[in-house]
Amino acid sequence: MKTIEDLAKEDEGRFLSGKRLFIRVDFNVPLDKKTKAITDDARIREALPTITFAMQQGAKVILASHMGRPKPGKTEGLGLEVCGARLAELSGFEVHVPEDCIGDAPKKVIQDLRAGQICLLENLRFHPEEEANDEGFARALSELCEVYVDDAFGAVHRAHASVHALPLMMKHRAAGFLLEKELRALARVVDNPEKPFVAVLGGAKVSDKIEVVEALLNKCDVLVIGGAMANTFLAAQGKKMQKSLIEEDKLPLARTIMQKALDKKVKLVMPVDVIVADSLEATTGEVVSAGAVPEGTMALDIGPKTVELINAELQKAKTVFWNGPMGLFETKAFENGTLEVARTMAKIAAFTVVGGGDSAAAVKLAGKEVVDGIDHISTGGGASLELIEGQKLPGVVALG
Ligand code: 3PG
Repeated sequence: MKTIEDLAKEDEGRFLSGKRLFIRVDFNVPLDKKTKAITDDARIREALPTITFAMQQGAKVILASHMGRPKPGKTEGLGLEVCGARLAELSGFEVHVPEDCIGDAPKKVIQDLRAGQICLLENLRFHPEEEANDEGFARALSELCEVYVDDAFGAVHRAHASVHALPLMMKHRAAGFLLEKELRALARVVDNPEKPFVAVLGGAKVSDKIEVVEALLNKCDVLVIGGAMANTFLAAQGKKMQKSLIEEDKLPLARTIMQKALDKKVKLVMPVDVIVADSLEATTGEVVSAGAVPEGTMALDIGPKTVELINAELQKAKTVFWNGPMGLFETKAFENGTLEVARTMAKIAAFTVVGGGDSAAAVKLAGKEVVDGIDHISTGGGASLELIEGQKLPGVVALG
């Protein structure tokens, strides 16, 4: 797989100069539900090294991204103008967003690009053909450019037109700096992680994490299970979890996973205590033993004894991978378990990777010092999990 730097070196270092360069970025940033303002611009910031490099090389930069999952004909609130404005603030470049991502509108903007100006195409998913990996749509995108670079790590697990069909039809294609950085960091976890390797999994559902749990059982020494998915495991051990979120149909699966962990000599760490309340709307909670959840209550965070157990494992680790919160961290009363995992990860000497999504948001909530203390915070939740599972990512395959 070539990188943008490799491409730039061709033609005695002039390869990118004056070329129309399509950079697939992942600007699918979280927006405030009411104001529609960006609440976390990490994905835009992380794309800056590639964008700046391309501009310094004298390329005509065309950025493309998806935003959200628009339904056919419903585009409201999912336009990329807001990302263009933030990119302009962060980069100092002038950003033009044509009204569509294919056809005459972007062609005109690209043709008129001057030094210091960037074209950010409108949301690719406004065309259902993007998600259908449609050749004709990819062809229309290819008409806009001469060179293709993928820097959208968060989207490389999708076989979508701008990620898969388009690079396959481009003669010149390469990875951007972010994609390269993400693949390198996750490779340190996937291929021969330094031992002891501790994996921490949380989040709501066991069903979302089956493949990743299976893959991790073949690699890690310790598997910590927290968050609501731990409820299903605790219930599978016969504990009465009362009103807690449980996937009844996944109880046999949880038992199989526990048996596999035993067979493979992977230490399973599960909550020994939890913080309970009577509803998801509660603002205070009570610490109880995991085996004594009171009637009418639900587990919403791991308790202090569990935090201690996890911390003890993390202190011994040489590699740590974490995905999924330990509790309902969006509510102050139930944030402690999740924030404690983040804080400990930031302090230990191990190589530490956070697998995007909610856990990345929790790390940010824990503060700048914690963010800086973690070796790699992925910009891709789904993509990083699929990598850990050992799956081939369509967007990476297409760059080969
Ligand atoms: C993400 O947010 O994980 C990526 O941008 C991919 O988005 P998607 O899950 O809607 O394909």
